[in-house]
Amino acid sequence: MKTQALYEQFADELAAQIAAGTFPEGSRLPSLREAAAGRGLSLSTAIQAYRLLEDRGLAEARPQSGYYVKRRHKAQKMELEPEETSIDPMGVTLDEVSMGLYRGKLDPDVAPFGAASPDPELLPSEKLDRIVAAIAREGGFARDTSFSPEGIEELRQGIAQRAFAAGCPISPDEVVITAGCSEAMSLCLLAVCRSGDLVAIESPAYFGLLLILEAMGLRALEIPALPGTGLALDALEFALDNHPVKAVVAMTNFSNPLGSLMPDASKQRLARLTGRRGIPLVENDIYGELYFGDKRPIVAKSFDTDNILLCSSFSKDISPGYRLGWVAAGRRAQDLVRLKMALTSGTSALPQLAIARYLESGGYDAHLRSIRRAYCRRVEAMAEAIEKAFPIGTKIAEPEGGYLIWVRLPGGVDSMELYAEAARARIAIAPGSIFSPSRKHRDYIRLNASVWSQRTEKDLVRLGKIVETLAMRDAPSLSRK
Ligand SMILES: Cc1ncc(COP(=O)(O)O)c(C=O)c1O
Repeated sequence: MKTQALYEQFADELAAQIAAGTFPEGSRLPSLREAAAGRGLSLSTAIQAYRLLEDRGLAEARPQSGYYVKRRHKAQKMELEPEETSIDPMGVTLDEVSMGLYRGKLDPDVAPFGAASPDPELLPSEKLDRIVAAIAREGGFARDTSFSPEGIEELRQGIAQRAFAAGCPISPDEVVITAGCSEAMSLCLLAVCRSGDLVAIESPAYFGLLLILEAMGLRALEIPALPGTGLALDALEFALDNHPVKAVVAMTNFSNPLGSLMPDASKQRLARLTGRRGIPLVENDIYGELYFGDKRPIVAKSFDTDNILLCSSFSKDISPGYRLGWVAAGRRAQDLVRLKMALTSGTSALPQLAIARYLESGGYDAHLRSIRRAYCRRVEAMAEAIEKAFPIGTKIAEPEGGYLIWVRLPGGVDSMELYAEAARARIAIAPGSIFSPSRKHRDYIRLNASVWSQRTEKDLVRLGKIVETLAMRDAPSLSRK
């Protein structure tokens, strides 16, 4: 009989403890050092044992944080069929709720599950203050008349260097600095579309994009997207073959609102589908740095730097208030520079310089590691709290990055009604229908998990009760778990 290696024995023991509930799903396993010391094993034996647990699907490693018991309650995870595959071009109408989400952020009395703001406590505010103070001490900044429409070189270089490290070779010359990711997307669409043109978008899609489409008089072609893998590429291919689509806008990494992560092979296919037809792809990667896995997901632009316009910003990880974003626009870079010059002459130089120095300072990676860990824990905690507090039939799309959770309500509860009831109870949520120009996704909501406070769990219990009341009214057979 084959004798078991030490690491296999240890892995079996840990597996038995996991099965017995000593280490419940999502809990942290003893650190490698603790495990090795506690059992009189060498560190390398402990590492082998944990890797074996990973191979068996029982544990997962999280960067800088250790090993955790993998969650297995997949039943809760959404693997939904696309809702409706009929895709009709739609005009887009600006919505009061969308505008309200922009305006109504950060009232301390309101549970902040609505707007997709980062936790202000997790922004490197003091460090930026010190950098700005140092720039002010150098003096004379207001007398600088040498601003450029494309943005300052140090920042464009910093952005290109980071993109290269993440597997996407972009050149500083194709980077245009913008007022946030919003302006990055608007400039792209302005450069490649004319009023009345058709733009293929994900359904659901970030509602800010819908506001841009409306403002520019563009029409939307909604392509179904799924919580796991994002944009449905067969549907997109069909749409590109049958409609006069002038641009595609997609989020390949941790989309808003789905949190979906498109597999690399699909990113390559997406790049090919658009590249071969010469249809510009506007790729929004604003959450790409906030991954929970062990490496940064690549962007579709890695497969076609020329045709893809990659947009992002520092709004989710450094400061939304600095309003700094960027687009790497490939062969259309000069068109964007001309537009930027015509529209605003350039982005304010002081925040650009501050962020360029922050990127150079070397603290950015450590900061990102720490906020990734925090958001990962908060997303898990919120998903767990929703599971407990919401009625049976609720489904959760738990993302692998970012901090947004897409929730399907039970019994066809209308999220607009829930939005109004929740607002009365001073709870902000984003109702699903604002993510679609044709008002699909009515029985979904998006919740922001970025902030976790003492009252979060209670607020979710209150929200769960409102959902339950509405669900019971419509389908009395539903009861709480
Ligand atoms: C997907 C997505 N794109 C763009 C934006 C806007 O970014 P910015 O504040 O940098 O303009 C947001 C903000 O919530 C977002 O979630």
